[in-house]
Amino acid sequence: MNVNGIHYRAIWMDGTTVCMIEQNLLPFEFKIFKAETLDDTCMAIKTMITRGAGSIGAAAAYGMYQAICTSDDEHLVENLVVAKKKIDSTRPTAVNLFYATDRVLKASKVSREFAISEAFAVADECAEAGRMIGEYGNTLIKDGFGVETHCNAGWLALVDYGSALAPIYAAQESGKEIFVYADETRPRNQGARLTAWELASAGVPHAILPDNAGAYYMSLGKINMVIVGADRIAANGDTANKIGTLEKAIAAKYYGVPFYVAAPLSTIDLSTPDGKHINIEERDEDEVLKYSGLVENGNIETFRMANPTSHAKNPAFDVTPAELITGIITEKGIVKPNELKKLF
Ligand code: MRU
Repeated sequence: MNVNGIHYRAIWMDGTTVCMIEQNLLPFEFKIFKAETLDDTCMAIKTMITRGAGSIGAAAAYGMYQAICTSDDEHLVENLVVAKKKIDSTRPTAVNLFYATDRVLKASKVSREFAISEAFAVADECAEAGRMIGEYGNTLIKDGFGVETHCNAGWLALVDYGSALAPIYAAQESGKEIFVYADETRPRNQGARLTAWELASAGVPHAILPDNAGAYYMSLGKINMVIVGADRIAANGDTANKIGTLEKAIAAKYYGVPFYVAAPLSTIDLSTPDGKHINIEERDEDEVLKYSGLVENGNIETFRMANPTSHAKNPAFDVTPAELITGIITEKGIVKPNELKKLF
């Protein structure tokens, strides 16, 4: 996607350095973070400098490449086992991360060259999947539609194009008039900060919706469809995505609004039978108790907004049961949640 006329991916390699758009500073500052070592890359995934299922999958694959570069041939597989363990411990829910480290490790048992080509293929395939998700998803969007989305499932989250936002970009490019409702997505506000920034940069008409306003807007008939991304889709179609997704799906069912999940095949985890088996990340309570944003002196600052003696819960994801999902938009087409096996 273009930023000030220059094409960027959310994450890419430069030599042995992983370059990523620093997502914690957006939309206030556009900066590239350079992860020179595997430890830097792991830290960047953990602290969400790069985030979103597809982009952390790419970061994991590039991290494995960094480990390949510092390993001799003789100890390649055992060094990659150690690197995989380190990368896998950064974030637990998005399966793309584990998909990427598994894929590179497996390839290293064939040859160093194959492992390198697999490490680079993860990001390229993810970007191409986003493009195709856009094409398929656009067939569902009618002129004049109001589309609600949750969290950020745009190009920042999927290397390029996006998952949930790719159909929106494709619809806009094909001349449809659409209006996007971007849920703010507490507590980290990926919707208010990142989705809104992406949409504004692409000239897509939109408004940020407070997290608790979705059902009301559906009741007014303003939302024709909901499209969200995914961090892990279990074999039965249950889908883990950013906390708050489940509530939107329940409200959408009540008001008869089609609820779509958009995700590449690398987010579908057939080895996880259902949503109950998905490991849900718990993050630091400070993300709930404090706000971070641009203050009047132009600095980005963090301040406490909650009662000083209270604690908070901070589950990062929830699971939407398959029965609430109208369809899953992938790079191979749109399927019902109970038809996932058809795709493989
Ligand atoms: O915690 P995050 O910001 O990494 O969570 C991201 C989401 O939940 C996205 O909606 C999801 O990854 C889909 S984006 C390809």
